Amino acid sequence: MAITIKSEREIALMREAGKILADVHNQLSEIIAPGITTLDIDRKGEELIRKAGCIPSFLNYEGYPASICVSVNDEVVHGIPTDSRRLEEGDIVSLDAGVIYEGYHSDAARSYGVGTLSDADKQLIEVTKQSFFEGIKMAVAGNHLHDISAAIQKYVEGYGYSIVRDLVGHGIGSNLHEEPQIPNFKPIGRGPKLRPGMTLAIEPMVNAGDWKIWILEDDWTVVTRDGTKSAHYENTILITDSGEPEILSL
Ligand code: CO
Repeated sequence: MAITIKSEREIALMREAGKILADVHNQLSEIIAPGITTLDIDRKGEELIRKAGCIPSFLNYEGYPASICVSVNDEVVHGIPTDSRRLEEGDIVSLDAGVIYEGYHSDAARSYGVGTLSDADKQLIEVTKQSFFEGIKMAVAGNHLHDISAAIQKYVEGYGYSIVRDLVGHGIGSNLHEEPQIPNFKPIGRGPKLRPGMTLAIEPMVNAGDWKIWILEDDWTVVTRDGTKSAHYENTILITDSGEPEILSL
């Protein structure tokens, strides 16, 4: 499968999917507090997604058992919500969610501090978020895909953090995962040329320590090998012909 160029009709549906997902994230951010469980977040998220007339795209995706990925501290991504995990003051919690609206997907992730964070943890979250914005400065038609990757890596490594390498961003549309894969570090080659109508999920995952990860016995939860904390930030974007991308999920 080649990289698909979306029609105006498809873009309109993805805009709506993105808007709904942004709203879901905003509402979920308001319940983040010490004492709630990661399952509380999943329940609320699924309710909000369905109320908006959407389907939670992660639920049952390759067997994933929830609607929202909730990953705490050294968990990088794909944490499984459970009623036995309560958020504590000082935790970093990352929420990743996807919705399907009229057959079209959007995918976005945010990391938050629970209560008051250490300055180091605050910075990890901020740098992760900003690395997305540094990356999409390069998300301009005519540039190459890996220009985005390189910009993210450069920014993150400038702070002494590392970019997770085993997981990448992706094209998105009528499927959650489409071509191309989008590394957050510079691979060999320039990658495909960016063209108007491409829709991409850009999602830097940043570790405070080393980039190496493990996957836990549940076969989903990705954790840092060295036990350092991790943060995640993701939006679905559209390559336009105007010189800057449109962020669909903000
Ligand atoms: Co994604």
